[in-house]
Amino acid sequence: MTSIPAPSIPPTMTAIAIRAPGGPEVLVPEERPVPTPGRGEILVKVEAAGVNRPDVMQRKGLYPPPPGASDIPGLEIAGTVVATGPDSTRWTRGDRVMALVSGGGYADYCIADETHALPIPPDLAPTEAAAVPETAFTVWHNVFERGGLQRGETLLVHGGSSGIGTMAIQLAKAFGATVIVTAGSEEKCEACRRLGADVAVNYRTEDFVAAVKQATGGAGANVILDMVGGDYIARNWSAAAVEGRIVQIAFQASPKATVDFSRVMLKRLHHTGSTLRSRAAADKAAIARAVERQVWPLIAAGRVRPVMDRTYPLAEAAAAHARMESSLHIGKIVLTA
Ligand SMILES: NC(=O)c1ccc[n+]([C@@H]2O[C@H](COP(=O)([O-])OP(=O)(O)OC[C@H]3O[C@@H](n4cnc5c(N)ncnc54)[C@H](OP(=O)(O)O)[C@@H]3O)[C@@H](O)[C@H]2O)c1
Repeated sequence: MTSIPAPSIPPTMTAIAIRAPGGPEVLVPEERPVPTPGRGEILVKVEAAGVNRPDVMQRKGLYPPPPGASDIPGLEIAGTVVATGPDSTRWTRGDRVMALVSGGGYADYCIADETHALPIPPDLAPTEAAAVPETAFTVWHNVFERGGLQRGETLLVHGGSSGIGTMAIQLAKAFGATVIVTAGSEEKCEACRRLGADVAVNYRTEDFVAAVKQATGGAGANVILDMVGGDYIARNWSAAAVEGRIVQIAFQASPKATVDFSRVMLKRLHHTGSTLRSRAAADKAAIARAVERQVWPLIAAGRVRPVMDRTYPLAEAAAAHARMESSLHIGKIVLTA
């Protein structure tokens, strides 16, 4: 057996800090100490880090890191394990992992809970691997565990061309559902159809409620994944099937709405939601195990792939955020260390 030589871990690293709440320009490279893994943690030499809309919210000061999390943005990484903390048993130095992290991804080195890391599937580039954890964990938990999507049912996904949306389309199709999406341009709608969406609705020119009714013979969608809120809340209730499940993962329009609750009663709807980052470590570990069992084999078989928009060097994190805020992207934006 050959042992892997201990890598020399430098005392400091480059990380992208948020100088003050504001526009993309507040993201600046800083020299920071390389963190030390604690109990049950691993230290990963980051090769790539995914950019997510919650990072943009954090940069604006609207989504503070939970207690104990790094103030450096970045919720998902891919790279090589270079050190393990006490009682960390699953991984050894040299293992290649992709991991969900509660912050700190925009850096040369990042700490991950060992139970929130998965092996990188064969044939997946580090940039692709870094684009998987946040979307796979979020979609698996919200569409399948909370929403209970079943084979033969219809899923409506708002923001179909987003990082989350592109993962939701592929997973729902892989599990035998019909998929309807909304997106804000014909180009985005076409990209969603190419990925497998059965129906794509340009929400700027079409009413998604009427489109869902038409596509389902009047029955409505069984599960709705919503990241918009505001007037979409009442419209989702109209677009939902009897016993439909609406899962809220963000409020890009507004968390407030005036609604008629009789629709919930008459259609026996379930309206739920969740946010991943603040969940207990054990909850995320349970989601990680489910993703490894249910999603990882689909990625390894090439049936599900992250849709890649653009990659940027870590030092150009500000440009990556500007791209995300332009909403011109389709799929995932990734930083390379
Ligand atoms: N709860 C959780 O655990 C969790 C975890 C991760 C992400 N999220 C949320 O999930 C969302 C997607 O995240 P992401 O990282 O994939 O970001 P992203 O790629 O930037 O996606 C945002 C999407 O929202 C779409 N959108 C905005 N207004 C819309 C509207 N009125 N109707 C339909 N679509 C609309 C945009 O599409 P157009 O440009 O076509 O308008 C864009 O595709 C974000 O809101 C994020 O905060 C939640």
